[in-house]
Amino acid sequence: MGKNFEKKSWVLKHHHPVFGQISFISVRFKICGDLGTKMFGWLWAEADVSVVKSREVTKWRCHKPSSIQQFRNTIFTMSTDIMELLSSPQMTTVCAPMVRYSKLAFRTLVRQHNCDICFTPMILADSFLQSAKARNNEFTTNIQDEPLITQFAANNPDDLANAAELVAPYCNGVDLNCGCPQRWAIKDGYGVNLLDKPHLVRDMVIQVRNRISNPFTVSVKIRLLNDIKKSVHLCQILERAGISFLTIHARTPTMQKEPIQLENLNLIRDSIQIPIIANGDVKSLDDAKLLAEQSKCQGVMVGNGILTNPALFSGAKTTPFICIQQWLNITDIIPTNFTTVHHHLVFMLEKILPRKKRLLFNNLSNMEEVRLFVASHYNMQPLSFPSSELKPIICDYSNILQQNSESHHSYHLKNYTINKYKDCHNSDSNNKETINWQQPFANLFDITSC
Ligand SMILES: Cc1cc2nc3c(=O)[nH]c(=O)nc-3n(C[C@H](O)[C@H](O)[C@H](O)COP(=O)(O)O)c2cc1C
Repeated sequence: MGKNFEKKSWVLKHHHPVFGQISFISVRFKICGDLGTKMFGWLWAEADVSVVKSREVTKWRCHKPSSIQQFRNTIFTMSTDIMELLSSPQMTTVCAPMVRYSKLAFRTLVRQHNCDICFTPMILADSFLQSAKARNNEFTTNIQDEPLITQFAANNPDDLANAAELVAPYCNGVDLNCGCPQRWAIKDGYGVNLLDKPHLVRDMVIQVRNRISNPFTVSVKIRLLNDIKKSVHLCQILERAGISFLTIHARTPTMQKEPIQLENLNLIRDSIQIPIIANGDVKSLDDAKLLAEQSKCQGVMVGNGILTNPALFSGAKTTPFICIQQWLNITDIIPTNFTTVHHHLVFMLEKILPRKKRLLFNNLSNMEEVRLFVASHYNMQPLSFPSSELKPIICDYSNILQQNSESHHSYHLKNYTINKYKDCHNSDSNNKETINWQQPFANLFDITSC
């Protein structure tokens, strides 16, 4: 920070009605710039108490609030510029796209535990364009849900670009799924099917980039091919096409739980310059740090590990009880169907509950039973409080849909404003079981990952 940096620091504790006690270091600072200008503001860092004591802060956020109140309001915010996050020297932490699971409520939870970027589950672009029901079921967000990347499965440039335009006002980037190995996806030209079609993927990302400008990101998530030279070639084409970053699940389409192919990941890393998010087999913060170190990738994405422990990126070894309380609180506010509430608790309690109780819990069949179980075993129930910021916002797609049909996607969108705040309304719809219009994933307890 240089010699012109003056600071005074102290530890603050903040009690948030949903997320409980949060400790963070606050530093009031004064910077005298080259032109003699002065800037006053706050640096703060969320941290658990031991970290606060040792002052070993891993992540600083910088704010220049006009008042203490504004400072308090911003304590849950962070940089939403994805490229800025990925260019920081610290490891960027990412929650994986997961069909059924990386939905708004779960994203809200992991964002409280040091997760920098979240992906939506994969959404089929053509269904999203055609069906209002699909749009309402598959994409929900709120004003705290950022940075957010919406992942689409698409097999042609128009579908991807049209779908990207619809969600652009409500998220920070779109990602193309080139990693789903499921049979139905391959048959329809989605997921890993695209790994063998570098020029089609290139045209798809170029189409999005031409229509939506920076800082909105355009990215691709891939698996590795058996012939790694082909993967390197694909990534180089994508880099030239202008993708913002790349996520690599370092397994081939036929690999399941085997260790990732670190050497091949590193081969790709050495062949391109854009930021890479490494993915595969991370089960703890230590694993994540090791993968970041060994691969020298800018980010680490976690899927299965963060389902079983949403506080993984905070360093917790197993799901801390606060997560369970937070999950009850969050799902009481964000409409979430019973199956989703239950499945997530099944994952979170997997390493906590003894076997007999786990079987009992896994077989519960309604919300009432789940709440009774959690109340009797953990003395927890949802805590209600005013919570307008967590409520889903209403996404209004009508203008873009109309423009699309009028101009037949031949226009170029300039200075597209990413402004979810102006659309901030409360939504009480969507409180029912959602219809799973996508091709079903494997049984919950036998998940084949994308
Ligand atoms: C339940 C589940 C759903 C998934 N859905 C998606 C998806 O929608 N899109 C995608 O690109 N990958 C999906 N994946 C794959 C993950 O994003 C990730 O690449 C994979 O699980 C490997 O990471 P992990 O070892 O940390 O779990 C899914 C994985 C799981 C377990």
